[in-house]
Amino acid sequence: MADKQQLLIGAAINYEKVASDSKYKSIVKSEFNMVTVENDMKFTSIHPARKQYDFNKADVVVNFALMNNLRVQGHTLVWHNRIPDWLLRGHYSKEEMKRILKDHIQTIVRHYKNKVYAWDVVNEAFNDDGSLRDSIWLRTIGSEYIGLSFQWAHEADPKALLFLNDFGIEGLSDKSTAVYRLISSLKMQGIPVNGVGFQMHYSISKEFNADNVKRNMKRYRDIGVEVHFSEVDIAVPGNDPNMETDIQGDLYFKLLNTCLNSKGTCTAFIVWGVTDKYSWLPKEKSPLIFDQRFRKKEAYEALVDALKQ
Ligand code: XIL
Repeated sequence: MADKQQLLIGAAINYEKVASDSKYKSIVKSEFNMVTVENDMKFTSIHPARKQYDFNKADVVVNFALMNNLRVQGHTLVWHNRIPDWLLRGHYSKEEMKRILKDHIQTIVRHYKNKVYAWDVVNEAFNDDGSLRDSIWLRTIGSEYIGLSFQWAHEADPKALLFLNDFGIEGLSDKSTAVYRLISSLKMQGIPVNGVGFQMHYSISKEFNADNVKRNMKRYRDIGVEVHFSEVDIAVPGNDPNMETDIQGDLYFKLLNTCLNSKGTCTAFIVWGVTDKYSWLPKEKSPLIFDQRFRKKEAYEALVDALKQ
């Protein structure tokens, strides 16, 4: 159904489960047409020492995806989190940090050239007030690290789509406007930014303002930037999840519907995990569309309903 709507419907997946759980794999193969690499490409995993890259786990995930005709979203090249000690304690100068980051980005992007369809190049670079978030990259290189990262990634694989990803930027707010302004100014300088990822880690009590999100997507459409709903999950905080699965389903429906209403701009809807059993959130929050026993939930049916319309 997603293929017919020209929509990518993805799930974040991990090496550990791909390597060990055949039921998990068969759901990924049959229910999605895209995956995001949830953890195995993060800095500590893939670049454990200055001169050492470890592609083993991410390769398994990427090869599994490609063998099954699933597009791959690489996640993530530049982030304030998951920075290894060798880098944190290295006391590198600005020039050295630029060399390290360029090498990091280009070694990884080259390794996955023609395999990774889209990259989350820069992740969570902003604060709520729209200022740039403190990170080792901002502190040592300065704000230019963002534009440089996109340029370096583009040099390494000119065909890969390049995304900036963050949370709390789907509606209209100081943060989302700062992100929008940065992306449009990078584009005006000729720096290739193809897309923006709205994470959308929600809970069922979240007030979702579809109109706001639509207006935000419209300004991206106007500058030729596509949107992914990149890390969707909806936590159920209550004690009795059964009572609340319909609310969760309704919200999943609204989110996908909002994406589909901006066709051509909103090109992917990605859930942050496959089953509640392996979600990054505590199991009892049951945030995903398959339950702990891998059964389809109301949330799953809600997505089907949205795709049918
Ligand atoms: C999370 C993973 O889901 C967890 O398994 C891991 O322990 C920590 O990172 N925003 C992001 C993701 O961009 O990379 C994070 O993923 C969730 C929040």
